[in-house]
Amino acid sequence: MSADSHKTFYLETFGCQMNVHDSEKVIGTLVHEGYKQVETVEQADLILYNTCSIRDKAEQKVFHRLADYKKLLAQGKKFGVLGCVAQQEGEKIFERAPHVSLVCGSASYRNLPEMLTQLEVGKREAPKPEARSLIRITGLDDRETDKCFETEFTARTNPHRGYITIIEGCDKFCAYCVVPYTRGKERSRTYESVLAEARQMADLGYTEIQLLGQNVNSYKDPAGKRSFAELLAAVGEVPGIRRVRFTTSHPRDFGRDIVDAIDAVPTLCDHVHLPVQSGSDRVLNAMQRLYTREQYLERIAWMRSAKRQISITSDIIVGFPGETEEDFAETLSLLDEVGYDAVFTFKYSPRPNTPSLALEDAIPDEEKARRLDVLMATQREIQIARYKKYIGTIIEVMVEGRNEARGQWIGRTSQNKTLNFTAPELATPKLGSYVPVKATASFPNSLVGEMVV
Ligand code: SAH
Ligand code: SF4
Ligand code: F3S
Repeated sequence: MSADSHKTFYLETFGCQMNVHDSEKVIGTLVHEGYKQVETVEQADLILYNTCSIRDKAEQKVFHRLADYKKLLAQGKKFGVLGCVAQQEGEKIFERAPHVSLVCGSASYRNLPEMLTQLEVGKREAPKPEARSLIRITGLDDRETDKCFETEFTARTNPHRGYITIIEGCDKFCAYCVVPYTRGKERSRTYESVLAEARQMADLGYTEIQLLGQNVNSYKDPAGKRSFAELLAAVGEVPGIRRVRFTTSHPRDFGRDIVDAIDAVPTLCDHVHLPVQSGSDRVLNAMQRLYTREQYLERIAWMRSAKRQISITSDIIVGFPGETEEDFAETLSLLDEVGYDAVFTFKYSPRPNTPSLALEDAIPDEEKARRLDVLMATQREIQIARYKKYIGTIIEVMVEGRNEARGQWIGRTSQNKTLNFTAPELATPKLGSYVPVKATASFPNSLVGEMVV
């Protein structure tokens, strides 16, 4: 049998939506090369991890996985590290995990086929397993071209909603964050190329598109003068597209024109994820977030005065170096003031290369954990009150799945809320369809209802 007919790969993805979407690109590229994706490490010739480095725990995960499966090297399997840890650590990964033979950063995936061929050639030249581990291929810097956005082979996993990368990298350099070092400088994809992909997806039957970038608001069409809000509106007007989401927004670049676009184009979802990180000006300044609490609240006010009710969500870090009880109390009061529909909370984790690494990480882990608990309990109460208000209203959901155990369908609202519902037997909804649901009960994180027929 030829070596080619048996090439199989296993891929595990860590981290954010950018990574999830990158994995769809990697899978598509490998399948095009004749590889077959398998569900377990044991079945695979090539074991890949698409990694995240945002917090220390995320980074450690990949090294734990690599240690767990090291024994499989003797069976001739190969290990590859992709993504943000690959980009951050580069060749150092070969020192920490000598059985790894491929390290490839997110901007180089289009070179994967070539790298895999080199790996195959190397395998033939070095038949002993011990020697195989010495075949090391890296591809880390291919960022200067618009081609790194190409998605010719992207294998989207969901047939109804899909991601489009519109901007890569980040130039913000928040004091705690590794992303500018792992994803590199900001570069936007052309307006035409994004729209072409959106149209192509609509032709394939997609109805929901999620525009992705670390900081989508600073999108700038390299071939013209189009802004993010203009791109957003144009994608929303592609025939066949019923929902457009975007993530993540940075408050500094979040303009009023985005709210105007949401008001003007009904397909743009009424949800904005606008991470605040802290409610204290002192901490925001130390984090180098480039806005004040007041400026942030001004953006919230724009959204609250929109025609449609816009759902707002956020990310918050507790225990940033120097965060006092008073600072933390300001974050709690901000939660009350804004009224978020969801908040993702994190304990500060010192990261390599970042400016805040030089600051002492003096707040003990137990104290960070305590603040996290208080924050989550406060937010829970806010959400209970907010979600309750939807009881009795009729909301359109996209049908995303079925929970057999509960006898419910899983729906998602335009505001990105989960609304699980029951439907009469004769009116079984199709996955990916849009149906009206009357909310009958609420939880802190979801709604329950009945389909309206
Ligand atoms: N580009 C997005 C965020 C990407 S990272 C933005 O600017 O909002 C997702 C979240 O992880 C961040 O919003 C932040 O809350 C959290 N995060 C990033 N670095 C962190 C660190 N060193 N420790 C703890 N949380 C961190
Ligand atoms: Fe990180 Fe800040 Fe860039 Fe977001 S804006 S990715 S938090 S540096
Ligand atoms: Fe993690 Fe990289 Fe995303 S560090 S959060 S996978 S950009």
